[in-house]
Amino acid sequence: MIIAIDGPAAAGKGTLAQNLAKHFKYAFLDTGRLYRAVGFAVLEQNQDPSDPYYAITCAKKFDPKNINSILKNPLLREEATGNAASKVAVIPEVRAALLDLQRDFAEHPFFEDGTSAKGAVLDGRDIGTVVCPNAEIKFFVTASAEVRANRRFKELNDAGKIASYEKILQDIKERDFRDSNRSSAPLKPAEDAYILDTSNLNATQAFQKALDLISQNHL
Ligand code: DC
Repeated sequence: MIIAIDGPAAAGKGTLAQNLAKHFKYAFLDTGRLYRAVGFAVLEQNQDPSDPYYAITCAKKFDPKNINSILKNPLLREEATGNAASKVAVIPEVRAALLDLQRDFAEHPFFEDGTSAKGAVLDGRDIGTVVCPNAEIKFFVTASAEVRANRRFKELNDAGKIASYEKILQDIKERDFRDSNRSSAPLKPAEDAYILDTSNLNATQAFQKALDLISQNHL
């Protein structure tokens, strides 16, 4: 069983994916972290994430066996890393280098301790359209740019970080534009995805709505 969850930044797809994975005892892969790890590696070399040479070289260095430890780096969560990830993600060779890894995980999902799982939840931008077009269940989680910027702003504030709402909103709009308008695997809902607008839903309500859709249509 594969559950594919796509959507723009800060729409709540990560939280929903983790809640569903926990509920069904499936393994979870945040595919944004793969792109973030590539963006981070390029930034660490003081290079431009839009430069295909460095981005492709870093993407090809991924060791699938080491994936869990690479993705644990807390610095991957930084806003700058997210923006770098969105830039490397435009490059088709970077996407190609990460594709098998994601498909392998979907087909043979495993938990952090290495034990295998009977299902997988993957979240990203192109899971339902490109990575796992045959996923049994697909969600496209979205919310207005203003609501998403506000969530990010609160998150950063709660973590004691100084943040500007206007700058976050601008970054989110730029990232949406880049992710949605690239030629390779752009962000868009799969035709058979359930659209879940979380603008007026908290995490628990979004999870409940997703569970209702699954139990009405798939169980
Ligand atoms: O979900 P996130 O914010 O961690 O993703 C960071 C960037 O990675 C996002 O702006 C676009 C890219 N990405 C992608 O192109 N395809 C995916 N499946 C996941 C993320």
